[in-house]
Amino acid sequence: MKVCWHIKRISGKIFREKMSDILALVNSVPNSNWNSQKLFETFCERLEYCLMAVKAGKIVGVLLAYEQEPQEKLGINEKHVFIRRLCVAKEYRGRGIARCLLLKMFTSLTARKAVFLQTNTDNPVNELYSRMGFSRHTTVRIEGHKDNIWKM
Ligand SMILES: CC(C)(COP(=O)(O)OP(=O)(O)OC[C@H]1O[C@@H](n2cnc3c(N)ncnc32)[C@H](O)[C@@H]1OP(=O)(O)O)[C@@H](O)C(=O)NCCC(=O)NCCS
Repeated sequence: MKVCWHIKRISGKIFREKMSDILALVNSVPNSNWNSQKLFETFCERLEYCLMAVKAGKIVGVLLAYEQEPQEKLGINEKHVFIRRLCVAKEYRGRGIARCLLLKMFTSLTARKAVFLQTNTDNPVNELYSRMGFSRHTTVRIEGHKDNIWKM
């Protein structure tokens, strides 16, 4: 099957209109149980690095990231871009959409900035990040589980 999707910035308008679609994707991360208020409060004022993959008008993947100050509890001691969520709809996985979202975000950075993200050590997606060239920065224990902190 020919797959054709586009990667676009998530505007404030799209963010508000497509909140439930974005929320469904966000909650496809294991153990994630966000509600629309959390999604809105976390991203509505900081969509600069947020991207979506769209196929035939439908959002099939999102990368949600923001710039933030050093995070001592994650062992990150520099200002950085933090990828909070990277999610692709089940039926579109394995076709390079996550890779495209990541590459687009990197090319959109206007200056050299460190990029970090956090994943549960049990999540198979850890493989994706090492394949994409991220290096394991550290491992932290948070609320009883272990998370890898990846850096690019
Ligand atoms: C993780 C996720 C975003 C990957 O999306 P995707 O579009 O299927 O990924 P891609 O097709 O772009 O794959 C990119 C690379 O990662 C690898 N990869 C992707 N998912 C993988 C997995 N679950 N296990 C191992 N490797 C994986 C692919 O083999 C590919 O490597 P290659 O290009 O060298 O062959 C998707 O599986 C998902 O939404 N999962 C649920 C949400 C989640 O856990 N997100 C991560 C935490 S925020």
